[in-house]
Amino acid sequence: MNNNGRSGAKTLGALILAAGEGTRMESTIPKVLHPVGGRPMLFYVLRLVNALKPTAIGVVVGHESDRVKKAVLEIAKDCGISRPIHFIHQKKALGSGNAVLESIPFLKKFHSAIVLCGDAPLLTYESLYALTQSHAEQKGQVTLLTARLANPKGYGRIVRSPLGEVLRIVEDSVGTGKELAINEVNSGAYCFEVAALLAGLKEIGAKGPKQEHFLTDILELMRARGGKVNAYVSAIPEEVLGVNSRIQLSTAERITNRRMLERLMLSGVTVLDPASTHVDADVEVGQDTVLEPSTVLRGKTKIGKHCRIGPFCYIENSQVGNECEVRLSHLNGCRILEKCEVGPYSNIRPESVIGPRAKIGNFTEVKASRVGFGSKVNHLSYIGDAEIFEDVNIGAGTITCNYDGKAKHKTVIQAKAFIGSNVNLIAPVKIGRGAKIAAGSTITEDVPDDALGIARARQVIKT
Ligand code: UD1
Ligand code: CA
Repeated sequence: MNNNGRSGAKTLGALILAAGEGTRMESTIPKVLHPVGGRPMLFYVLRLVNALKPTAIGVVVGHESDRVKKAVLEIAKDCGISRPIHFIHQKKALGSGNAVLESIPFLKKFHSAIVLCGDAPLLTYESLYALTQSHAEQKGQVTLLTARLANPKGYGRIVRSPLGEVLRIVEDSVGTGKELAINEVNSGAYCFEVAALLAGLKEIGAKGPKQEHFLTDILELMRARGGKVNAYVSAIPEEVLGVNSRIQLSTAERITNRRMLERLMLSGVTVLDPASTHVDADVEVGQDTVLEPSTVLRGKTKIGKHCRIGPFCYIENSQVGNECEVRLSHLNGCRILEKCEVGPYSNIRPESVIGPRAKIGNFTEVKASRVGFGSKVNHLSYIGDAEIFEDVNIGAGTITCNYDGKAKHKTVIQAKAFIGSNVNLIAPVKIGRGAKIAAGSTITEDVPDDALGIARARQVIKT
């Protein structure tokens, strides 16, 4: 393939339409930035398009263009997309036809072009690749990806001749009863010969109450010029889902989640109840780990091998090492090293590192703290800005008093220390190696190694 972008060379360009207002979302967030599986819809479309190896990618922006552009650049960086990305500014949202018309300066550099909608996050590489292959084989002016849907409402319908040739696309808003009964729909993904696309684009007229230019009208115009229009029917109909409303967003989320869980199960992860388990697109889970019901894994979470996670866990942007058990707990931005037990009812917050072989028990909150090898914080404690070395036992109800109203201070508890129940450690404070703190103490001064710290009123018995 010639990559120099000269007109006439067999180059491939890709165009993503993302300028629409997304009115039906009833949102202040641009539609294509709504997350699915924890990532903006555009993430999936960009990743897919990049995998097809076009010479360059064009993104049509308009509504909230700055936000969309910023997101595109972030996604490109995150996915390691190195091919050029061009932004095309659509001045007014006058329809998909107008969006492509505005992209002529970009498109004319290529021999053929893939055009996709930014609101179709479920499209698969297999089908898009097959679409480009089918286009190359059939030598038409355009090949569109279609699908047969049980409920085609809202989509453009594919009108075919009795011989099966694609004649035109009829939009849902303007179709007759008979046309709308057709269940083969337009996915919004096309592979065009650019020369034919450019010729047809200029002839598309305005339609409907908003006087929009429908890209789909180009099929008839191409045919009128003697062009050949082909379709590739998807083997995975759910992939054509376009997200126009929050209801469709929830369908996209469900399908993305199901695909993710299937991928995990095929790689050796047990998912006891897929219906109540939610896993974002970037999550990794190791072999022989069991995800129990009502478990939610979000963001860049990574779970090791042979773990038991759940039931009822929420884990976000965290790493859990091999052979850990995490039950009924909330983890965010933390690292749990191998062979730890967490929960039930633990809350482990950002910048915490636990273990290996440590235990964080019920109603314990840990924030920005290190809990070392084999140490235990089993009951009803708050550990904040603390450094706990190995083999430390923290008694029930221990609080690190880390905040004086102005600043946060650090608590250091060295190896093998024993903190009795219901102790307040007023930071900054340091408990030495092997030291013991008597239950009920409020410790304000450092305790040396192997010493006993006791700071509580003596019991008085009055009769
Ligand atoms: C479109 C197709 C329809 C297809 C469906 C698949 C047209 C006329 N209709 O309908 O045949 O079945 O997608 O999901 O193309 N956009 C712009 N600028 C605009 C208008 C839209 O960039 O002025 C972008 C949107 O951001 C969106 C895409 O084009 O990503 C499709 O627009 P949308 O309004 O969602 O079209 P549909 O009604 O879903
Ligand atoms: Ca749409």
